[in-house]
Amino acid sequence: MIFVIATNNSKKRVELDRILNPLGIQAVTAEQAGVNLEEVEETGNTFEENAELKAVAACDLSGLPAVADDSGLMVDALDGAPGIYSARYAGENATDADRIAKLLKEMQDVPMEKRTARFVSAVCCVFPDGRKIVVRGECQGTIGLAPQGKDGFGYDPVFVTQSGKTFAELSPQEKDAISHRGIALRKLADQLKQVLAAEEENSEEIDQ
Ligand code: IMP
Repeated sequence: MIFVIATNNSKKRVELDRILNPLGIQAVTAEQAGVNLEEVEETGNTFEENAELKAVAACDLSGLPAVADDSGLMVDALDGAPGIYSARYAGENATDADRIAKLLKEMQDVPMEKRTARFVSAVCCVFPDGRKIVVRGECQGTIGLAPQGKDGFGYDPVFVTQSGKTFAELSPQEKDAISHRGIALRKLADQLKQVLAAEEENSEEIDQ
């Protein structure tokens, strides 16, 4: 089955693709499906609402099932910020380095034991007939005192996992095994398997 991956973030798309492909899901980009997602405003109040806004738009525009992720970093000492505003934390045209610098500055007086945080990913899958699956994955960690590691994207260099390494120091496979997005997408895959199996059963009944 072909799904449109509803994101303009190329690094995130690579992760979604990497996790969905082994599950038998053929992913095409919004661009390949002729869909312009730039117009979709993330006006929801939760990760789930924003994931659904993006998936519904991509599904409506392409006529194909669509998968969207809305994700972010929630820092306990900052009352859950940057949360759903993670991408815009340091303004519209800021870089990953700007966002990390802002986060470390906000947390400069926070002691190690209070630097707990979690990444959250809500993934929504929408079918052209209106069926919808929404799942959430979370990954617990802490915010380091300085960036470490070169891989990954976004806040990866300051997100210290339970192994003591940051997300940016893990291989892609190691990150997928524990990441918020990996957890959410494996939940999605389980639910999709059930949907697809039910569909197959129905079509067999009709054939008989
Ligand atoms: P959105 O889901 O496109 O609204 O953006 C989520 C933002 O959260 C990204 O731009 C990153 O800054 C951050 N983020 C989400 N997932 C990750 C991750 O796996 N690693 C690092 N940063 C992430």
